[in-house]
Formats: sequence, C-alpha cells, structure tokens
Amino acid sequence: MLRMGIVGTGGIANAHANAAAAVDGVELVAVADVDADAATAFASTHGVPAWYGGIEELTAAEQLDIVSVCHLGKRPRGRHLRAGRIRPGPGDSVRKAHQPERG
Ligand SMILES: NC(=O)c1ccc[n+]([C@@H]2O[C@H](COP(=O)([O-])OP(=O)(O)OC[C@H]3O[C@@H](n4cnc5c(N)ncnc54)[C@H](O)[C@@H]3O)[C@@H](O)[C@H]2O)c1
Repeated sequence: MLRMGIVGTGGIANAHANAAAAVDGVELVAVADVDADAATAFASTHGVPAWYGGIEELTAAEQLDIVSVCHLGKRPRGRHLRAGRIRPGPGDSVRKAHQPERG
C-alpha cells in the first residue's frame, strides 16, 4: 500500500483525495494545512486519520510514498521541496501533479 499525504487542503485537494480513493493500493493517511480549521474539516470529510500544521510536521511524523502539494507557490517544485527539506533519492519521481506523463 502506498501512503499518501496532501499539503494544502483547499479546493483542488478534494480532487487529489478523490483520485487517491479511486486507486487501489493508495491510502491517504495524513494532510497538512496552515489553517487548522481547513485541515480538520478536510480530514473529517475524507476520513483521513491525521493532520498537521505544515509540510515539515507532516514529513517528519509520517512515512509517505506520495506527497501531493496543493497550495499556491511561485515556483512550486523547488520551493515546496525546500520547505519540507525533502531530498529526492535516485529512484524518486518528482513532478507537478498536473503535468502529463511523458514517454
Ligand atoms: N492542477 C490543477 O488542475 C489545478 C486546479 C486548481 C488549482 N490548482 C492550483 O492548486 C493550488 C491550490 O489551489 P486551490 O484552489 O486548492 O486553493 P485554495 O486557496 O482553495 O486552498 C489552498 C490551501 O492551502 C493552504 N496553504 C497555503 N499555504 C500553505 C502552506 N505553506 N502549507 C500548507 N498549507 C498551505 C491554505 O490554507 C488553503 O487551505 C494553486 O496553486 C492553484 O493554482 C491547480
């Protein structure tokens, strides 16, 4: 089972959560949002067992295979990875959620 987390629990995060629920082998285990009310409401709606105040807390507390970043960022890729101190390894795939698969 692949463990997924979502950062930013606004409008588009619902589509990511619904997509995760529709895929066998993926479980949405935690979410994060700077707005605690948004995080708790989203967790309740989607039956997510854990929520955190930001990507740092999320990635420190949870062993995740997928992190879906669903909040505004000027340069999302680098900025979000730096924010979470995420260091992708050689086998990890990092790309924008809406970027189509190539090849
Ligand atoms: N790919 C697509 O099809 C698609 C569609 C819609 C929106 N988007 C993009 O997704 C992003 C989010 O859009 P939305 O409509 O869901 O926005 P939204 O304003 O509804 O939700 C954003 C959420 O992120 C939270 N947030 C903000 N900064 C945060 C941070 N540093 N850490 C954790 N949480 C944080 C906010 O509190 C809010 O709950 C935007 O960049 C938007 O352009 C993409």
